[in-house]
Amino acid sequence: MMTRIIKVDQDNPSQEAVQEGSSVLKKGGLIVFPTETVYGIGCNAFSAESALKIFSVKKRPADNPLIVHISNMEMLHKITRDVPEVVEERWKKFWPGPLTIIFNASPLMPAEVTGGLDTVAVRMPSNNLARSIIEASGLPVAAPSANISTRPSITSSEYAIQEFSGSVDLIYDAGDCSLGLESTVIDIRGEKPIVLRAGAMNAEDVSSIFGEVVIDDIARGIAYSENPISPGTKYKHYSPSKPLVMIEDDSLYKRIFRKYSMDRRFLFIGLDQMLERNGQNLISLGGSGDLREAARKLFSSFREIDRSNCLAGVIHSFPEEKEGLAIMNRIRKASIMVVRTESDFNRFVESL
Ligand code: TXA
Ligand code: MG
Repeated sequence: MMTRIIKVDQDNPSQEAVQEGSSVLKKGGLIVFPTETVYGIGCNAFSAESALKIFSVKKRPADNPLIVHISNMEMLHKITRDVPEVVEERWKKFWPGPLTIIFNASPLMPAEVTGGLDTVAVRMPSNNLARSIIEASGLPVAAPSANISTRPSITSSEYAIQEFSGSVDLIYDAGDCSLGLESTVIDIRGEKPIVLRAGAMNAEDVSSIFGEVVIDDIARGIAYSENPISPGTKYKHYSPSKPLVMIEDDSLYKRIFRKYSMDRRFLFIGLDQMLERNGQNLISLGGSGDLREAARKLFSSFREIDRSNCLAGVIHSFPEEKEGLAIMNRIRKASIMVVRTESDFNRFVESL
């Protein structure tokens, strides 16, 4: 398939660029577009046939439902039933933005989009280009993260073009995503709001809108279920092709870094305070210890492991507060083992 690649300013897109995306959606095609979280691969959410194309291009398991993206509240009412009052009252506090909410689905939603559930996950993205395309087409857009299943999500157009040229109709070459982590997925149908997937909106901010949240152990990445509320959580995710290990203890990370920092087999990924010298086999996740900066750079660092000549990536753990919760969830899922002692690491080195 010929893929059209359009260079565009994601904050201030030309009318022409927006129209091209809108017309692909209306014809049932696929677009790869930036959101503030990660790149998405999108289609008309009312079209079962188009949704099936996404599953095929992404090699995604059919029972893992898609998030539907909207640009106004009218669309929300069209695709859902029984919108909770708290959403009607407070939606301006979280939308547009990186929060996805589970609703009862309207009968208009194809089972191919909802994974056969009677619910649908919805969010209104804040990215200007994304919202403008949805608004121009008048169609809600079903869009999972634009990455082949199991691979790290994509936060820069360079990787989007690499991964999807030839398999979608249109890719927006729009640079980097501003947040770099997927949206937080919550379920507010019960007594207390539950975080099903930790994400770019931190739990403190979700609580300030919906009341105290329960963070599912699966969302932390420390529990597993064959039958979770959020089907996506049971699958392998975010993983580079080469092994990534997480070292849980900061002083152990520094010790191992000192010992192996000249060893080209390893790519060390971490905050500057953990990487004590400059070098070529390291990737900085930021200097200030700002978790949002680390979040923004995380997925590209995973992809860098595969692009570099190293044999494995080595990352340290993060405190599980604010964005750290989502960062740790992604690292746990992407890594093949948690290193707790020096002999753990030695065993890993021998296995390479
Ligand atoms: O930031 C994001 O959320 C990005 C951008 C493109 O918006 N999208 C994204 O989609 O991360 P995806 O497909 O990679 O992840 C969607 C997650 C999956 O874990 C899926 O199982 C869950 O949301 N999900 C979707 N519909 C659901 C539903 N009806 N009930 C429970 N979980 C649902
Ligand atoms: Mg994904």
